[in-house]
Amino acid sequence: MKIPYSEFNIRECTEGNLDAVLELQEETIARLPSEDLLRRNSPQMFLSCFRPPHLSIGAWYGEELAAICILYVPEDNAEDLAHLLDGIECAGMRTANYKLCIVREKYRGNGLQYHLGELIENEARKQGIALMCTTVSPDNPHSIRNMLSLGYRYNRTLEKYGYSRNLYYKFL
Ligand SMILES: CC(C)(COP(=O)(O)OP(=O)(O)OC[C@H]1O[C@@H](n2cnc3c(N)ncnc32)[C@H](O)[C@@H]1OP(=O)(O)O)[C@@H](O)C(=O)NCCC(=O)NCCS
Repeated sequence: MKIPYSEFNIRECTEGNLDAVLELQEETIARLPSEDLLRRNSPQMFLSCFRPPHLSIGAWYGEELAAICILYVPEDNAEDLAHLLDGIECAGMRTANYKLCIVREKYRGNGLQYHLGELIENEARKQGIALMCTTVSPDNPHSIRNMLSLGYRYNRTLEKYGYSRNLYYKFL
């Protein structure tokens, strides 16, 4: 369904949106060509992503949640993708992850991953974050294309969460 970006209502997700986010995640996973493409996030993880310093931005079309995109600001190395980069100097920099973007199938093709990606980068800049990282399945050409369009660079392919993942980074 082609919809101008201006017709989506863009706002921060809060606890009251948890059920809508979980429903979007389950609908998306049920329709994936392979479950390897998207790791399921728990309700607790989403709730933490709704609170600062993280930011979860939703795009609504009418009453329906069309998409969500999450900025995750890791507190330790375990969650910080920057520590997995090969050959990139980032000592002392504040870093964050482009954690997740899901666009409901019927709203795909409206550039929502790209537009919401720009919004979470703006928030990251406000927080003084200098380096963003993300992982994408090598079998996810749509997401890879959007991350490259946003200016992310490929670093390496690794095993993460038991799946093969391409690691990307972007200096803000
Ligand atoms: C990856 C994803 C977020 C991209 O959604 P999007 O921002 O709406 O995609 P775009 O606007 O860039 O789409 C560009 C084109 O690719 C197509 N496209 C996008 N995602 C597609 C998909 N998963 N399968 C088939 N075609 C897809 C669109 O229909 C559009 O085609 P068109 O130009 O002929 O209209 C979306 O496919 C998705 O939510 N996938 C499942 C979850 C996921 O993989 N998330 C990324 C990892 S975190």
